[in-house]
Amino acid sequence: MSIVENKTSYPWHDSKEHDRNHVWHAFGPVKGDTWMVEQAEGTYVTDVDGNRYLDAMSGLWCVNAGYGHERIAKKVYEQMIQLSYYPMTAAHIPGAQLADKLNELLGAPYRIFYANSGSEANETAFKMARQYHFLKGNSTKFKIISRYRAYHGNTLGALAATGQQQRKYGYEPLMPGFIHVHPPDPYRDHAENDLEAYGEKMARDLEKTILWEGPETVAAMIMEPIITGGGVLIPPANYMPLVSAICRKYDILLISDEVINGFGRTGKNFAFQHSHVVPDFVTMAKGITSAYLPLSAIAVRHDIYDVFAEAEGEYARFRHVNTFGGHPVSCAAALENLAIFDELDLVQRSAEMGVVLMNHLQALKSLPVVGDIRGLGLLAGIELVADRDTREPLSLDLMNKIVAFCKNSGIIIGKNGDTVAGLNNVITLAPPLITTEEQLITIVSTLKSAIESIL
Ligand SMILES: Cc1ncc(COP(=O)(O)O)c(C=O)c1O
Repeated sequence: MSIVENKTSYPWHDSKEHDRNHVWHAFGPVKGDTWMVEQAEGTYVTDVDGNRYLDAMSGLWCVNAGYGHERIAKKVYEQMIQLSYYPMTAAHIPGAQLADKLNELLGAPYRIFYANSGSEANETAFKMARQYHFLKGNSTKFKIISRYRAYHGNTLGALAATGQQQRKYGYEPLMPGFIHVHPPDPYRDHAENDLEAYGEKMARDLEKTILWEGPETVAAMIMEPIITGGGVLIPPANYMPLVSAICRKYDILLISDEVINGFGRTGKNFAFQHSHVVPDFVTMAKGITSAYLPLSAIAVRHDIYDVFAEAEGEYARFRHVNTFGGHPVSCAAALENLAIFDELDLVQRSAEMGVVLMNHLQALKSLPVVGDIRGLGLLAGIELVADRDTREPLSLDLMNKIVAFCKNSGIIIGKNGDTVAGLNNVITLAPPLITTEEQLITIVSTLKSAIESIL
C-alpha cells in the first residue's frame, strides 16, 4: 500500500507541525504553513491534503522527464547495492558511461567533471577558466563577464556572476572580478522590428566592455543562451554566434550555462546548439537526472583539458574535489533518465510541443495586460504590463494574484521573482517534456482565466 493510500496511519498532520516549527524554507521565513507535497506522478503533484496539481514548472524547471518513473528508482536501487559510493578520485562505470552519453548529446568532444548542483558547476567552471589562463602564462586574466537579469547560482561566486540585484542585496560584497553587461531584451528595448541590428548592437556593447575592462584581464564570459529565471529573454539569432566570435577574438572562454536550458528544455539537447557555436564550457544540472537525484556536470572542451594534461609543475593539476560530485547512484539515475529521453524522443517532443504551446498562447494576446509572449521548446515567458503603450510592468500584487488563481485552479505556473527592481512581471512556463497537448490547453486556458480575473 502506498503512503498516499495509507493516509490514516501516516502522520502527515504531525509533519505539517514539524515543518512549521523546524524547517527554514527557500525564500523564507514565510508566514503560516508552507504548502506540503506528498506524491507526484507524470506531470501531476499531489499535496498532503489530497489536492492534485498539474505542474507547469517541472518543480524548479528540472523534472524534464516527469515524475515517478519506476525504472529510474530500480536503477538507483541496483546501483546502491552494486556500488553505493566511491569518490571521483577513482573511476566508476556509471560515471564513465554518463560522460560518454553527454558527449553524444553535446556533439563535440568534451571532458566531463562532475559536481552536485548548478551553482557548483558554475563555480567550478570559473576556477577552471582562471587556471587555464594561469597555466598558459596569462595570469592577469581573471575577470568573469555575465549579463544583468541572469541567475547563475546561490554560492558567493555564482551569485557574483548573477545579474539580479534583488538576490544579492544584503549579502554583498560578493566575489570581486565579476562584470555585468546588458542582456538582449528586444521587448523592453523596443527592438522587435530589427532583431538583427539589435543583436549586433548588443554584441558590440559587450565587445566595448571587454575593451574598456582590458581583454588581458578577462578570463571568461558566462551566459544562458536563453535567460530563464530572469524572465525568459530570447536573444536575436545572431547574438550568441557574435558573442562566441568576440570571446574567441580576445581569448575569453565561453561558458554556456545550460542548467535550465539543457536536456531538451528549448527543443535541442542544449540551447547553444540553436546557434551552432561550440562553447568552451557547458555547465549542466537539473534535467540531467530530471531531479531524481542531485548531480551536475561541467563539460570542458578537449583542448582546454589538454592544457591541464600537458602542464607541468606543482600547481598544474586542477586541485579541486567534492565528496558527492559524480556520485555513482546519481550517474545511474542520469543514465536511466537519458534512456527515457531517447525512448520517448523527449527533445524532439519539446521542440514540437513548444510550437503547439506558442500557438495556444496566442489566445492571450487579446488581453490588454499581455505585453509579450515568447518561448522556445517547452519554455515560455508571458510578460505582463499595466499599460501596453508605455510597457509599464504589471504590479507584483497582481502578478501574485495570477499565480495564486492558477494554483487554486490546480495549475502550478511560475513567475520571475526577486530579480531586478521593477521587472518581476514575467509569467513562466516550463512543463515536463511529457506534457500532452490537452494538458497544455488546460494550462493556457487557466492562465487566461487568471489574467481575466485581475482585469
Ligand atoms: C541558469 C541557472 N544556473 C545555475 C543555477 C543554480 O543551480 P542550483 O540551484 O542547482 O545550484 C540555476 C538554478 O535555478 C539556474 O537557473
